[in-house]
Amino acid sequence: MTTTLDPIRPGGPFDHRRAPLLEATKRFLAADITPFCTPGHKRGHAIDAEYAEVFGAAFLNADIPMGGGLDTTHFNHGLLVQAELLGADAWGAERTYYLINGSSTGNHAFMLGTLRPGDKVIIARDIHKSLMVALIVAGVQPIYLAPELHPELAVGLGITPAAVEAALEEHPDAKLVALVSPSYCGVPSDLVGIAAVAHARGVPVYVDEAWGPHFHFHPRLPMSAMASGVDGSVGSTHKILGAVTQTAVLNLQGPLIDTKRIGTAVGMVQSTSPSAPLFVSIDASRRQMMLEGKERLEGAIALAENARRRLQAIPGIKVLDAAQLGLANYDLTKLMIDVNELGLTGFETEDLMRNRFGLQPEMSDLVSVMCIVTIGDSQASIDKLVGAFEVIGRERKGAAARSAAQRSSGEVIAPGQQAMIPRDAFFAPARAVPLAEAVGAVSAELVIPYPPGIPVLAPGDVISAEKAEYLREGVAQGMYLSGPEDHELRTIRIVDR
Ligand SMILES: Cc1ncc(COP(=O)(O)O)c(C=O)c1O
Repeated sequence: MTTTLDPIRPGGPFDHRRAPLLEATKRFLAADITPFCTPGHKRGHAIDAEYAEVFGAAFLNADIPMGGGLDTTHFNHGLLVQAELLGADAWGAERTYYLINGSSTGNHAFMLGTLRPGDKVIIARDIHKSLMVALIVAGVQPIYLAPELHPELAVGLGITPAAVEAALEEHPDAKLVALVSPSYCGVPSDLVGIAAVAHARGVPVYVDEAWGPHFHFHPRLPMSAMASGVDGSVGSTHKILGAVTQTAVLNLQGPLIDTKRIGTAVGMVQSTSPSAPLFVSIDASRRQMMLEGKERLEGAIALAENARRRLQAIPGIKVLDAAQLGLANYDLTKLMIDVNELGLTGFETEDLMRNRFGLQPEMSDLVSVMCIVTIGDSQASIDKLVGAFEVIGRERKGAAARSAAQRSSGEVIAPGQQAMIPRDAFFAPARAVPLAEAVGAVSAELVIPYPPGIPVLAPGDVISAEKAEYLREGVAQGMYLSGPEDHELRTIRIVDR
């Protein structure tokens, strides 16, 4: 298979009408190749009949590997790198790696490629499970920073440059500053300010921008991590853009990180048999954003604003906005809908939305549900959402039952006391004890309400009475816990000391 089009080279020119992986897919499909290579289903010929009926012949025929499919088994055409060069230009990075196991892979690869066991990392505590796992895998020592919380709404307001500066003063040997921005609720941190204080000490900054891959493409959205000058960031193209599930981009720039070593780490944590359709989807989504992203995002923002205004008019419902949070900047496409004053939990509301109204929110917790609006929404989808809440509002059950602090991204994720680094606690001898007896002991496992996936307990944390009670009540109300061996948390594994 030869490449007939000009290859895309470092330094450009970058023609964003091109989509090298999509072009290669079309060439492959037109070439009538009989595979004597993986995948074993041989372009759909060895697939369970019902699966084939549900997913269709076109889907299976296009399940092509990268090596020995889109490219040769020796990757002679460097097609993936060509696509990534376009990606780097699109997201404003020096080097971009495409990921097919989500932002999670980017978080693991960045930490493995940047740190050594025992290194100190100044890291916000409202991190996602995957960053916490990266701390365990890399064996580093986290210096946790508690996100600022809005005093009444208990919404995390990110971490400040002043907090990062103070931590760097106290730990001048720290090797990295890492944080999540925007937060799950859509709140960005002051990345320009954080980069300035860290870079002044020669320390790189890594931003988990899983929820912000669209920021780079519209001026009314918060400034993107790359535009803010941080050294590395990861964005889940599948969460917000028009790309399929599991796709993400890892963006890198600047002299403070080793781009090649991080690339090696990507190759270590990513599958050695990546699915080409996933990579192709990132390629196509990059093209879509570059050619029509601003206009499409303009539409999505207008729809989200329409929904926010109409939902806020329903008695008993609050929807977070920048003014309420006292922020200049906020991801306008996020709808964090508080249902507490309706006398409902977010979990009950999610059930109602799904089973009665045919709607699926992104997340629910004790006090709220989160809905995301993307370039895939329409006035009809927004009307359906608002219409359902008008009915739910009319049938309100009673008065507020809880405090906003019971939000899954609220006080409960404050760092608390650490007795060991996460890796040591994870590998230490441990035993399961009833939750009530675990207060004061050191957690040997991650305990994470999912979504949003922010650990309430990390290995090495001392289990406080407040966190134990929050988790007990959450599970009683229907919270799903990722991480612990006992998902119901009747027991929890503690370090045997
Ligand atoms: C802040 C944050 N980072 C990383 C991830 C992981 O992203 P992915 O699902 O693309 O692996 C998530 C997932 O929800 C997240 O919320």
